[in-house]
Amino acid sequence: MKKLILDLDMGVDDAMALAYALASPEVELIGITTVFGNVPCAQSVENCLAMLELLGHPEVPVVAGADRALAATAPYTTMVDVHGTNGLGGVALPEPTREAVGKSDAEGGAAVDFLLDAARTWGSDLIYVPTGPLTNLALAARRDAEALRAIGGIVFMGGALTIPGNVTPGAEANIANDPEAADAVLRSGVPVTMVGLDVTHQTILPFDELDCWRALGTPAGAAFADIVGYYFNFYLEHQGYLGGCALHDPLAVAIALDPTLAGTLDINLKVDLDGPFRGRTIGDPLRLHDPQKSAKVAVTVDAPRFVERFCERVRQALG
Ligand code: RIB
Ligand code: CA
Repeated sequence: MKKLILDLDMGVDDAMALAYALASPEVELIGITTVFGNVPCAQSVENCLAMLELLGHPEVPVVAGADRALAATAPYTTMVDVHGTNGLGGVALPEPTREAVGKSDAEGGAAVDFLLDAARTWGSDLIYVPTGPLTNLALAARRDAEALRAIGGIVFMGGALTIPGNVTPGAEANIANDPEAADAVLRSGVPVTMVGLDVTHQTILPFDELDCWRALGTPAGAAFADIVGYYFNFYLEHQGYLGGCALHDPLAVAIALDPTLAGTLDINLKVDLDGPFRGRTIGDPLRLHDPQKSAKVAVTVDAPRFVERFCERVRQALG
C-alpha cells in the first residue's frame, strides 16, 4: 500500500484533508509534518494532535516543522481570521494526551529529517502532500533534492495560475506566506503537482453536508459541523460569489491519490518575489524552451466526482 505524509498548517480545510486521508483505503498515513501558516507552527502541532485523537488515530506521529518563512527573522505568530481564533473555527477540542516529535524551529524542526528519511525508505511508494507554505519542502530540497526526486508524488495545495490570488490579486495564501520557499521548490526541478485556486475554487462543500455530520451523533461529527460551519460562514461573508467554502486542502489529497480527478498542464513555474505581484505563481520565461517540465498544474477538475467522494469518505471518518 502507498504511504502518505501530510504537511499541514492545521486550519479548517487541513482538518478536512486529514479526515479524507484517514478514510482513504488506498493509502496509509504514516505521519503529519507541521508548518506555520493559518496558525503559528506550535498551534498547528496542537491542532494536529487533538484532531488525530478526535478522529481515533492517535498512532499517527505528528512531527514539528518550520516555525517561520525562509526569509523571516522571528517565528510567525499570526492567527488567520478565516480559520477562527485557534485555527479550528474557535472550537475547543479536548487537550491532546501525547506530544509531537521534536520542536518547531527555523530549520524545519524534525519535519525535514522525517520527510527525507521517508523518501529514502519508501521512494516511489511515498506520496507527500503539503497544504501550507512550502517551507519544510524547500528546506528538504536544500539538503537532499535527489531523495525528493524519488518520491512517487508531491502534490501541493497552493498558487493560482489562471485566476487571481486570494490574499492579493497575484498571490494565494500558502505561497504568500513564504514566496521564497515556493520559488526554491519550483526552480529545484523536483517534480510537483500544483493544486491551486484554479481548481479548488470549483469544489465547494454543500452546506447540508454539515447536517449529515451532526446527524452521525458522534463527537467527531458534531465538532466538524461546528468547525466547518465557522469556515463556511466566513466564506459566505467574504467570498460569497463562490456559494460556500472551497475544499482546498482535501482536493490536493484527493488528486494525489487519484490523478484522474484533474486535468493538468505541464509547465516550468516560478514565483514572483518582487513588486506588486509578489507571491504569484507564473510560468518561468527562462525555462520556456526547456523540454523537461517540472510542474503539473491542475487546471480542470471533475468537481462532482470529487465532492461526492469527499462527502462519502469524510462521513466515514467522522462516523
Ligand atoms: O489558500 C488556501 C490555503 O491557505 C489552504 O491551504 C488553507 O488551509 C490556507 O493554508
Ligand atoms: Ca492549509
